[in-house]
Amino acid sequence: MALAVVILAAGKSTRFKSAIPKVLHEFGERPMIESSLDLATQLSDMPPVLVVGAETEAPLREWAGDRARFVFQAERLGTGHAVLQARPLLEGTADRVLVLYGDMPLLRLSTLQRLVALQEEDGAAMAMVTIIRDESQGFGRVLRDVEGNVVQVVEEPEATPEQLRIRELNAGLYVYDADFLWQHLPKVTPSAKKGEIYLTDMAELAASAGLKAVPLVLEDPTEAMGINTRVNFASAQAVLRRRINEACMLAGATLVDPATTYIGPDVALGRDTVVLPNTHLRGTTQIGEGCEIGPNTIIVDSVIGDRCRVTASVIESSVMEQDSDIGPFSHLRPGAHVRTGAHIGNFAEMKKSTLGPGSHMGHFSYLGDATIGEHVNIGAGTITCNYDGKQKHPTVVEGHVFIGSDSLLIAPVHIGEHAKTGAGSVVTHDVPARTIVYGVPARPHGIVEEEPPADASTDGED
Ligand code: UD1
Ligand code: MG
Repeated sequence: MALAVVILAAGKSTRFKSAIPKVLHEFGERPMIESSLDLATQLSDMPPVLVVGAETEAPLREWAGDRARFVFQAERLGTGHAVLQARPLLEGTADRVLVLYGDMPLLRLSTLQRLVALQEEDGAAMAMVTIIRDESQGFGRVLRDVEGNVVQVVEEPEATPEQLRIRELNAGLYVYDADFLWQHLPKVTPSAKKGEIYLTDMAELAASAGLKAVPLVLEDPTEAMGINTRVNFASAQAVLRRRINEACMLAGATLVDPATTYIGPDVALGRDTVVLPNTHLRGTTQIGEGCEIGPNTIIVDSVIGDRCRVTASVIESSVMEQDSDIGPFSHLRPGAHVRTGAHIGNFAEMKKSTLGPGSHMGHFSYLGDATIGEHVNIGAGTITCNYDGKQKHPTVVEGHVFIGSDSLLIAPVHIGEHAKTGAGSVVTHDVPARTIVYGVPARPHGIVEEEPPADASTDGED
């Protein structure tokens, strides 16, 4: 049976008070409505039908491209009226219709799969999701018959004081038999108090036609949280955060304070990694096993190997290989690659640069467009002067080089292996291997005679 999905998004989002449509606000790193679109495409082969209004049409068309079909609801005459706008597109092409909202981003695929299955198994005219909650404000109340089928949904403005006490609430998610829907929806008349065409009247129409409307009660009512105001928005984000954090902990990561740990939906964390408070892990970030991340750290779209330590630092689109460490207070900008066992201390910045295996950059340094070999010591205050005001130029430092404190490496420049620069050198020319240079501009001063011990750089030079 072909299932079509209709996503309602014609609302003005007045209560959200935003210049852009509410459903395009980021939730879990993507527009809120993206999750409805995702669910729809996982349930149906037909592109979902988005019902849009004057305020939402242009931005939503731009966002969805050809992933959705659009119908326009010129006047916001109610949820029933909104679904009716999809009739010309869907009648005769689908035998079942699932209706979702664009502002319910916590909904799980498994819930909708159960709803679809329930309608089918029961041969019901419709199946609908309900929640049982004490906080009922704004929700339609669900009335059932003795067999447990829904006979009516009463909207709050229309409800009697007695009906208002009902704690089973309408979540706003439905699967309809298409014949039933298109036959009965046009019969819904405007409501007495608000004058809207309520989609919720369909339950009563099913009952009076002797057909069944079956409820599916949600075990986790947070799934049906709709976002109307920025207050709801923050609470829903907290729910999403809790779900993600719990999944990370159950997979073997320690979150010292989940309340101040912000992990994106696509982040992966290895076993025995410890995340300290106020840490934000975003985008496609992957973190290996046995790491210590945070506190006060932001990592975006980066790969961190096993046993790394990242303290109070910011890492963007970069790679840190295993056993490397950084921080506090350092910054890897896009294209930084920290090789195995390398060490970055405080107030250091790297951009489009590689720091070789076992190399050290302890303090106040900048590497831009640089390739640093293995076991190099970058002294405090070293700067690659990679930009001449017009162009960026590369710096290459071969293995086992010692760069003295406060050296300026004027790119393009190449420093041969085992070379040394004295403190305060301004290196304007290439330095041959094993050569010592110093001064301004730096000139050769001698030859490095001693063979440095293999792990010279691991002691560093402060
Ligand atoms: C609706 C239900 C209510 C349910 C609640 C759950 C009706 C009449 N009531 O109420 O029983 O408990 O959802 O959240 O359906 N929309 C349009 N065009 C319209 C009106 C609404 O596209 O003319 C869209 C809105 O953008 C929104 C969704 O439909 O995404 C729901 O509309 P909303 O006004 O929030 O309905 P509620 O009053 O919350
Ligand atoms: Mg609502």
